[in-house]
Amino acid sequence: MVKKRVAILISGRGSNMAALVKAAQADPDFPARIVLVLSNRPEAAGLAFAAAEGIPAAVVPSKLYGKDRAAFDAAMQAELVKARAEIICLAGFMRLLTPEFCESWSGRMINIHPALLPGFKGLDTHARALEEGVKFHGCTTHFVTPGMDEGPIILQAAVPVLDDDTEETLAARVLAEEHRIYPETLRLLAADRLVVEGRRVRITPAG
Ligand code: GRF
Repeated sequence: MVKKRVAILISGRGSNMAALVKAAQADPDFPARIVLVLSNRPEAAGLAFAAAEGIPAAVVPSKLYGKDRAAFDAAMQAELVKARAEIICLAGFMRLLTPEFCESWSGRMINIHPALLPGFKGLDTHARALEEGVKFHGCTTHFVTPGMDEGPIILQAAVPVLDDDTEETLAARVLAEEHRIYPETLRLLAADRLVVEGRRVRITPAG
């Protein structure tokens, strides 16, 4: 089996990145390997984890590029080409990518969002879920398209919202599910088991 080469894009803590790295390391048959961790913030805590695991890491500081998104994306693309990345996983990456960049990685770039899409797109999902009084919350993996949090849904996991939940307790319950479904999503994508039909994603049987 030729493992797919994966780059993970982060901006902060990097716990989903760590979950992807661990999953790839734990199973010799995992169809992907992490070849690059790329951050837009030099202070991202996740960079230390990548260094400790011996995973090549790079920083393209978005601050330096200001509003010039095309130049920032070109600098990111240069790192991805250098690492010969075939798949991109966004993992708490807090910068919007240009439509051109998204199109060029279409079908090969995925994201994890801490809500059950299409509900609660954007930021502060846990606070908003509590405010709305929903009884179930969760997380979603999806293909990345130019619209924010809009691409075809791959996997979702739901958790109950409990009466005494705070933003923190709810976030923790959701995060545990994120760490489960994101590696599973990468496994399916890297094994070429995802078929996109319009907005629906079909999972083909393991072959
Ligand atoms: C996660 O909740 C993820 O779903 C969202 O941002 C958060 C990042 O956390 N996109 P981490 O950096 O993976 O720990």
